[in-house]
Amino acid sequence: MTDNVTHVTHPLVQHKLTLMRQTDTSTAVFRQLLREISQLLAYEVTRGLPMTTKRIDTPLEPMDAPVIDGKKLALVSILRAGNGLLDGVLELIPSARVGFVGLYRDEETLKPVQYYFKVPTELEDRLVIAVDPMLATGNSSVAAIDLLKEAGAKNIRFLCLLAAPEGIARMQEAHPDVPIVTAAIDSHLNENGYIVPGLGDAGDRMFGTK
Ligand code: URA
Repeated sequence: MTDNVTHVTHPLVQHKLTLMRQTDTSTAVFRQLLREISQLLAYEVTRGLPMTTKRIDTPLEPMDAPVIDGKKLALVSILRAGNGLLDGVLELIPSARVGFVGLYRDEETLKPVQYYFKVPTELEDRLVIAVDPMLATGNSSVAAIDLLKEAGAKNIRFLCLLAAPEGIARMQEAHPDVPIVTAAIDSHLNENGYIVPGLGDAGDRMFGTK
């Protein structure tokens, strides 16, 4: 099951995640931790990017120094909770282009319906990193990646904070070509689609809503 899943077990990530899970962690601290953890996860999700060299002058002598190759990568936030991850990743990759996908769940069909879609041009030439803190049922993540592929994206990675085994399985079935990077793989989903033990509603916790 975990072939294309990277579980980031770094002590800093795990420690911060534990603080985020705790019920008594305030909105302000939750947000700050999310910012810090998303930078650490950004480090992992960008591993193995194609590199080239560029000729530069150091104070001592010229050298061919490594730089990331290709077009600026695209970060795509799956609204609304994706924005919490987006901010931290953008701090680490400030030149990235940014897109947004908004989906809501139709109460009758229970299927995700698109209400907003705005992504950078030339998606086919960019590495696209889709961000959503919670990979729960996988329905909205799969739908968002369907839309990104329809818009031309060919090289997509998915970054989340917590994943349920059910969500990973759904993503792997629908999009086996999309690697997943996560800080934790939790036990299961409950009857309301929440990740257990999880951290509750990520959007509510980061934005202080209920
Ligand atoms: N979305 C959340 O915010 N939390 C969950 O546990 C599942 C989906």
